[in-house]
Amino acid sequence: MEKYLESVEEKIICRKSVINQLYSLIGYSDEPMPCSIFVYGHIATGKSLVVETMLSYLKYNVTIINCIEHANSKHIFDYILSDLSLNVTNSKMNTKLQLKCDNIIDFIINLKEVSLKDSRPIVIVFDKCEKLRDMNASLLPAFSRLKELSNVNVCVIFISGIVWEKFHAKIGIYEPIKVHFPQYNRNEFAEILLSFKTCDYEELFYKNYLNLFLSVFFRFCRDLNELRYMAKINFSKYIQPIETDKSKKVDSAILWRNISAVFKANLEVIYLRVSSDDFVKNNQFSKEIESTTKLALSFELPYYAKYMLIASYLASYNPAKEDKHLFVKEKTKKKIKATIKKKTAKLSTQCGPYNFPVSRMLAIFCAILDEKVDINANLLAQIPSMCQLGLLTVVGNYNLDEPKLKCCVSYDFILVIAKTVGFSIQNYIYDMH
Ligand SMILES: Nc1ncnc2c1ncn2[C@@H]1O[C@H](COP(=O)(O)OP(=O)(O)O)[C@@H](O)[C@H]1O
Ligand SMILES: [Mg+2]
Repeated sequence: MEKYLESVEEKIICRKSVINQLYSLIGYSDEPMPCSIFVYGHIATGKSLVVETMLSYLKYNVTIINCIEHANSKHIFDYILSDLSLNVTNSKMNTKLQLKCDNIIDFIINLKEVSLKDSRPIVIVFDKCEKLRDMNASLLPAFSRLKELSNVNVCVIFISGIVWEKFHAKIGIYEPIKVHFPQYNRNEFAEILLSFKTCDYEELFYKNYLNLFLSVFFRFCRDLNELRYMAKINFSKYIQPIETDKSKKVDSAILWRNISAVFKANLEVIYLRVSSDDFVKNNQFSKEIESTTKLALSFELPYYAKYMLIASYLASYNPAKEDKHLFVKEKTKKKIKATIKKKTAKLSTQCGPYNFPVSRMLAIFCAILDEKVDINANLLAQIPSMCQLGLLTVVGNYNLDEPKLKCCVSYDFILVIAKTVGFSIQNYIYDMH
């Protein structure tokens, strides 16, 4: 354990206590591992980092599943089995291990097979495991007690941004051992951000900068990814006076005066990084940002529902004849820079929303998703529930052959939703790119 702590000291900062907890649960290969562990905490608190780093050190037979990437349980079973049997050489791989299974019984049989051929302890990690709730209801209970069901030396680690209680665990689920990743405090943020320093400036100089930076940003943002990005781009502005005139000695008061306005402007767009190197300087727009952001996030829409809402927005504001042009997937993903064309003509986001048939929205939905997904009843059930939330409205009768819908959310709102799934919606609005 001591050895491990030492080896990650520089890579993982301020996470000693959770590392200790996790290591004592799974770190000793001669001691039995628990059935399952539930790792939870806010975004960017190092959950994936800590778990993945430890597992790669331990050299167990490990598979990590990002639940967002899998549409159903069959996918997951296949993925796990093929990942875990990577080490079993091809010659040993008999036809039995042509691991195709679509239910948990077959999965367990195959898992046993794998464990016979490879004696390392097995760890299965479900990252973003809240997504499992939308799949087969037996999945979570089965994985939470997989060790007992299979009699294999296996531990399942669930990683989630939400608390266990929200899983509405029914009977049959084993309560996993819970490991909480607390949010970093200000000093810890400073320490971690310092470790990301890439410039040649002295440590003390950068520390002072981070102190100023956090004095403004810490109150509004606790997302390490965002803070890291903001600290980096603001730093280049911070040192501008020094860079432009190298001979002059610049004191910190001048630097501060120079940077404080920049900080302020950047704060306003912290949740809405509209374009990565250019900031929107529209004040009216930014005043409402905080409340729009809160509102948009409060819906806690599932992943695919967010994409559906984005598709609905695009269907409501883009003319149908532009669809083909906008959504035909390009093989080489070129980034289209967002520049607004004519200022005089009304932007499409200011007209509309127009009605659209569900089929058109679904076509856009499939086009903007990076993964293949089959449109099933589960997905379609998102439409009425978004109507209930007031995000979409039905125009006419929903039970008609081709019902029409309309998207009711604002551009700011959809920007926030798009950002949470990492989708650059401005590239898909026909007069914005
Ligand atoms: N304690 C830490 N020390 C160093 N880097 C960290 C720490 N916590 C998070 N990071 C970095 O921040 C980013 C987000 O962390 P991640 O592990 O993905 O968070 P989570 O899985 O909790 O959302 C990653 O790039 C990670 O390397
Ligand atoms: Mg993560």
